[in-house]
Amino acid sequence: MQTSSPPSHPTTLLRAANPRTLLALSAACAYHTLPAAPPPGQLLSSQCFQCHGTNGQPVSGFEGIGGENANEMHKELLEMSLRKPEGIMDLQIRAYTPAQLRLIANYLSTLPKTGETNDD
Ligand code: HEC
Repeated sequence: MQTSSPPSHPTTLLRAANPRTLLALSAACAYHTLPAAPPPGQLLSSQCFQCHGTNGQPVSGFEGIGGENANEMHKELLEMSLRKPEGIMDLQIRAYTPAQLRLIANYLSTLPKTGETNDD
């Protein structure tokens, strides 16, 4: 414990603090300044939302892709990436490896599933 009057200037405070306190302080600062890593598959899925609605929620003319069963979605995406291209979806899904499609399917399954739009 200190016997003199409490330090008033922040620099004096730091000098007075013991190394453990400083370590804890810097760890706390690092925790607050580092951005949290996005959930796996989130970045890969973000381009899907250009067509299928923000967070995979249905928009006019497009089916929602959020909240589906992950295994079924993965199977469907794989099929679309392998079949003879029928449309834009089959073409763009070829950009992903099967492992990436797995990450996308897993991530999409964690999103909410809202009702289909009634204006399509
Ligand atoms: C450029 C626009 C576009 C983008 C980007 C896009 N899609 Fe699609 N998607 C479509 C269209 C159009 C269809 C419907 C026609 C078809 O099946 O080709 C479709 C259909 C689908 C279907 C089938 C829906 C059903 O139940 O019939 C799934 C699943 C799907 N997309 C998932 C995805 C995923 C996952 C991504 C991101 C990796 C993605 N889409 C990105 C345009 C897009």
